Amino acid sequence: MRRQGAPGRKDPGNMQLEKTVEKLKKINEIGRTLSSIIDTRELAHTVVAAAGGLLDARKAVLHLKESAGPPLTVLWEEGVVQPLPDFSPCAGADCDDLFTGGRTAVLRQNGSGQPCIGLPLKVKGEVIGAVLLEWGADGPFFADDEIELLSLLLNQAMSAFENAQLYQSLKNNYISMVQSLVNALEAIDRFTKGHSERVRMLSVELGKHLGLDFRQLELLEQAAILHDIGKILIPIERFEEVRKTIIQHHERHDGSGYPYGLMADEICLSARILSVVDTFDAMMTDRPYRKALSADAVKEEIRTNAGTQFDPCVAEAFVEMLDLKGKDFLSAAGYNTLFSPL
Ligand SMILES: [Fe+2]
Repeated sequence: MRRQGAPGRKDPGNMQLEKTVEKLKKINEIGRTLSSIIDTRELAHTVVAAAGGLLDARKAVLHLKESAGPPLTVLWEEGVVQPLPDFSPCAGADCDDLFTGGRTAVLRQNGSGQPCIGLPLKVKGEVIGAVLLEWGADGPFFADDEIELLSLLLNQAMSAFENAQLYQSLKNNYISMVQSLVNALEAIDRFTKGHSERVRMLSVELGKHLGLDFRQLELLEQAAILHDIGKILIPIERFEEVRKTIIQHHERHDGSGYPYGLMADEICLSARILSVVDTFDAMMTDRPYRKALSADAVKEEIRTNAGTQFDPCVAEAFVEMLDLKGKDFLSAAGYNTLFSPL
């Protein structure tokens, strides 16, 4: 006969089992979430929070090395994830074990000197970074089954990072292929040469300045490259949002634009951004009927037309961004070498 515990009291073994099952369920859920994320930064935030929460750690840090793209370190503490600039995790053999050898290691962190456990993140056998966890109140160590669970989670994270890298490289290839095609078309005319490339770069910078997320920036970038020829080139349904941006970028804030006479918020945000940047580039470059204007004159023109031609918030943000970045930024974009001095 099976032994029953006293009423109201659970067997500690069962409690442990229930806890583990709960954690496994959680890992499954997180795995589903991770597989839908293609932005490395968003992935890093999700993984570090999941790892820290799963093991009830005091702190968790996720560090991605340069080989994975721009180096990135994020800290999870008390439920909040934030960037951790200038991160240098540790030094010595244990650190090499983790970051070079890709082996789980117990380390003492630089700075705080707190001991922590480090697990590697690998993509195709290459160590792209690691997750470091400081023990919580239940320390001074994590149990073996907890490390097992964490390894399970990180295996899913590694697949997600691999997918994100693959997606990024496909996207970069696609962007550079389309950009080359557009550049070749524009190069025929000295008045349009380099136009879409500059509009792309400035649109993405303005999008970042306005706080657009990864997907919105991606859409804006594609629309900016194709905005002068895209109506012909992209009849495919998955580019519907890009098409909408391209079609609407001649609409005006006051409703006097074309093709539909949309106004204000009826015009999608990416089209409002593209409209400002496209006009900026046109004014900054020579036209058959006039010479390029100076940067100050163009900024003044954008301010004057804010609220009529342009969304006033987007126009203001653009001028603010140019002022913040200074003349070197526009020089690097090629304006002062091709056109009138700033
Ligand atoms: Fe244009």
